[in-house]
Amino acid sequence: MSKVTVVGAGNVGATAANVMAIREVADEVVMIDIKEGVSEGKAMDMMQTANLLDMNTRISGVTNDYEATANSDVVVITSGIPRKPGMTREELIGVNAGIVKQVTESVLKHSPNAVIVCVSNPMDTMTYLIHKVSGLPKNRIIGMGGALDSSRFKYYLSKALGANPNEVEGFVIGGHGDTTMIPMRRFATLRGIPCETLLDKETMDKVVADTMVGGATLTKLLGTSAWYAPGAATAEVVEAVIHDQDAIIPCSALLDGEYGEKDLCIGVPCVLGKGGIKKIIEIDLNAEEKELFAKSAAAVHKTNEALPC
Ligand code: LAC
Repeated sequence: MSKVTVVGAGNVGATAANVMAIREVADEVVMIDIKEGVSEGKAMDMMQTANLLDMNTRISGVTNDYEATANSDVVVITSGIPRKPGMTREELIGVNAGIVKQVTESVLKHSPNAVIVCVSNPMDTMTYLIHKVSGLPKNRIIGMGGALDSSRFKYYLSKALGANPNEVEGFVIGGHGDTTMIPMRRFATLRGIPCETLLDKETMDKVVADTMVGGATLTKLLGTSAWYAPGAATAEVVEAVIHDQDAIIPCSALLDGEYGEKDLCIGVPCVLGKGGIKKIIEIDLNAEEKELFAKSAAAVHKTNEALPC
């Protein structure tokens, strides 16, 4: 039996739970929220799709009852407030740090062996905070941002190419911030054909710029942070772990010398499977990419300095 807990049954958490349930990522998905009735109601609504969708996952919802989350294989933390139009993810740190710290302590009491997937923003800093609070082995804490940013990059590439998004490969490293993410244009391909040979520089520049503000664009349109792609990206990360896929997904990982950085969680390509991050893949970055990565890392370090611990 596999079990996943999603802490926070807001838009992102509930969407992640729903995608995981529909894809039968785990046998059991528990949603937990501080708002009375919300996770219970959403779980019931999802379970009422079981026969419509031929879905075998058991979904349940609880309010503040961490006992119900016991012995989860993976715990997803989405708790905290989302950004409003005009806000950066970094501005959420004051409120979200306290929430994420408390949630981490509560989940580990009941699931001491779980892999933790961090979704809360500012995501790289919250992932780092979870390391500091939990003291868990570094492979067991995964920040989700790169999975989402990479999917957005492939979306914008597919639009520019006029291609099916499923034919496009590409990934984003660096921080999960409007100015810190690094869409890796050099490695983007349409079924192995380098996108840089198919699109002119100006178009590639626009794809990269649109990807970097992909979340902000949606926040402006929706009045709050996006949820379909963040939820599905979270489910992709959890699926890789639960099904021991050895999937290569860019995630925020604690670096210990890789890419010339230490004591920092930031997006890098990771091999995900049983136990969490099995390996960090070190790409030979060119001079320009190295500079972008160093700048991104410096910005994430700076945000981390605002943490209370
Ligand atoms: C986004 C939020 C989830 O990028 O960070 O949509």
